[in-house]
Amino acid sequence: MSSVLSPGTEARMQVPLLDLKAQYRALKSELLPVMEAVLESQQLINGPAVKEFEQAVAKYSGVACGIGVSSGTDALLCALMALNIAPGDEVITTPFTFFATAGSISRLGAKPVFVDIDPRTYNIDPAQVAAAITPRTRAIMPVHLFGQVADMDQIMALANARSLPVIEDACQSIGATFKGRRAGAMGTVGCFSFFPSKNLGGAGDGGMIVTDDKALGERMNLLRGHGAKPKYYHKIIGGNFRLDTLQAAYLLVKLKHLESWSERRRQNAARYDALLRGCSEVTTPYIAPSNISIYNQYVIRTPRRDELRSFLTDQGIGTEIYYPLCLHEQECFADLGCTKGQFPHAEKAAAETVALPIYPELTEQQIAYVAGKVHAFHQ
Ligand SMILES: Cc1ncc(COP(=O)(O)O)c(C=O)c1O
Repeated sequence: MSSVLSPGTEARMQVPLLDLKAQYRALKSELLPVMEAVLESQQLINGPAVKEFEQAVAKYSGVACGIGVSSGTDALLCALMALNIAPGDEVITTPFTFFATAGSISRLGAKPVFVDIDPRTYNIDPAQVAAAITPRTRAIMPVHLFGQVADMDQIMALANARSLPVIEDACQSIGATFKGRRAGAMGTVGCFSFFPSKNLGGAGDGGMIVTDDKALGERMNLLRGHGAKPKYYHKIIGGNFRLDTLQAAYLLVKLKHLESWSERRRQNAARYDALLRGCSEVTTPYIAPSNISIYNQYVIRTPRRDELRSFLTDQGIGTEIYYPLCLHEQECFADLGCTKGQFPHAEKAAAETVALPIYPELTEQQIAYVAGKVHAFHQ
């Protein structure tokens, strides 16, 4: 057991929010030959690694099809296009998420209909979803925030009763489970992001859509290549949403390590939970009993969030606020007519939460240092 210094007595350390170089250094000898092989082949678009990676992610998630795409944003957009979401349609989602969730709905001329979150999990509240369904509702888009799956039993029950498709925004949650089922595998489609800071991070942008519906999978496959089949004969209007062969090859190597990285994140979270237990002003993450989180983020809540954050910055500790302004309050969504105070749980979360470093390569000493400084601030 390594020595864990008591709070307040540690020597100054640097603890970044994320250390991508540490992971790269550990995998460099595996990654570089694979990347070189793709470059030597010059099959840079639709090379064999793309199909291989799609099959690997589909298998890992427990679904029939995987469709590699250019980003998590394009995964959401392509899924909505495949489901024929169009102007005048309403899609129910959460205001406490990354912009792309609602942005992809608006880009198709449809209306994001925001509903409040469960203040404990920060995920969409199914009771609020039920209350927001109208004759114009065409889909439900829950987000599995910070690595924890939303209550998919309740969401699917609501959707199935009205034959509504469900698009899981699982961009932060690949590998997380709800009652033993993987994120992305419970709705009509699931969308993943391989943005470098995700648990499965690429060497740039990338994403994937997973589904058990083979016909829908084929439609998304067409859409990501301008709807062409065969080449230059366009059946439907799509876009260029392809995943590069280089990204697929890089991610195939990393996928083998995903489970152990997510396990390390869970261990780190358990350490923080234990070390922060006595800090009465701080609320540590709540993981519902039906869930196994992948802790893409470890988000704590405290009323003096902004002061804590600047204190931690001064102590060499990286933090981030996901997200400081809810989507219904964003300037670009002013025309939706939402008001401040409309989604109190989401707004309170935006004001009180902050993410601490949780990446797999963190040391026990670093975790003890961060927890010690959180205690020191609250003394
Ligand atoms: C919840 C959520 N949705 C969508 C996205 C968009 O993914 P990308 O950045 O790969 O486009 C992200 C990632 O940043 C995300 O966290």
